[in-house]
Formats: sequence, structure tokens, C-alpha cells
Amino acid sequence: MSLKKAVVVTLLFSSVASFASDGEKIYKKCAICHGLDGSKKSLNVSEKIAGWDADKVIKTLHSYKNGKIDKYGFGKMMMGQATKLDDNQMRTVAKFVEGLKPTEVKKQMKDRHLSIEELKYNTFLKDYFKKNRNGTTKEAKQLWRKHLLETAK
Ligand code: HEC
Repeated sequence: MSLKKAVVVTLLFSSVASFASDGEKIYKKCAICHGLDGSKKSLNVSEKIAGWDADKVIKTLHSYKNGKIDKYGFGKMMMGQATKLDDNQMRTVAKFVEGLKPTEVKKQMKDRHLSIEELKYNTFLKDYFKKNRNGTTKEAKQLWRKHLLETAK
């Protein structure tokens, strides 16, 4: 590939990447459990959070962070998530959640070719946490990688 072409390709990719808002970037982590469009009942227990009022999301995240709530027995898991966010990040992600409309995000998902792999990972994670109530996302990720390596053999 010529240098000029390479530069154009690089520019294209970097501009695509920068379309993602800060809220969307933070939400990527949440999406593993709550679904890319926020329409998943996380681990089959939580409410669908898409479209929740931002203030309600912030309040809920704070309560998880402070260990004040444990609605369905997975409060510790959400505490782990919430403690990673400072107030600013909470506000940013909450705004993003508020703006989530399931169908729109499904379209984005299609447009961006988010893969079946991602969906498979979601299912894997769900099963993992069903079996390991006190499991960690870190361990789940390690197991997932192992699983991928094994199935790639
Ligand atoms: C590892 C999986 C996982 C991740 C990642 C995760 N959550 Fe959760 N979330 C849960 C579970 C499980 C619950 C239910 C917890 C309980 O028992 O109270 C929950 C509950 C919630 C609730 C309250 C829902 C209700 O029914 O009241 C909100 C709001 C929420 N999460 C937002 C987020 C946000 C925002 C992020 C990303 C910063 C995030 N979650 C990341 C699993 C996850």
C-alpha cells in the first residue's frame, strides 16, 4: 500500500473511533451486562436501564458505590463497577443511559458490525455469574480468553 493510502486509511479509522462519545466509551463496560442498548435484564434480574432518568442512574450508582443497596443479591458486583467511576464519569454515563433507545442502538450495532462474538461473550458472562455469585469480571474475562483459545485450536 502506498504511503498516501496508508495515511488516508489511518485517518479514516481514527475519525470513526472518535465518533464515540465519552458516555458511550464508559458505557461499553456496562454493556457487557446491561446490553448494548440497555435493554437487557442484567443476569436476568435487574431492570432494563435504557432510558432511565439520568438523576436516577446517578443516585443508584452512588448507592451501589457506598454499598447501600443490594436489590437482587448482586449489589457487590455493581459496587465493583460503580467504585471505578468518579462523579464526573457517573454523570457522563448516566446521560448516555438516559438517551438509550433500544431500537436505535440495535441499528448502530448493525451499522458498526458489532459482532456475534460480543453477544456470545455476553452469554458466557451471564452463565459465569449465575454459577459464581461471587465471581469477578476479571476472572470471567480470563476464562473467556481461555475458552476462545481452546475453541480456536
Ligand atoms: C458484571 C456485570 C455488570 C456490569 C459490568 C454493570 N452492571 Fe449494572 N447491574 C448488574 C447487576 C447484576 C445488577 C443488579 C444488582 C443488584 O442485585 O442490586 C445491576 C444493577 C444496575 C442498576 C440498577 C438496576 C435496577 O434494577 O435497579 C443500574 C442503574 C446499573 N446497574 C447501571 C450500570 C452501569 C451504568 C454500569 C456501567 C458503569 C453497570 N451497571 C455495569 C450487573 C452489571
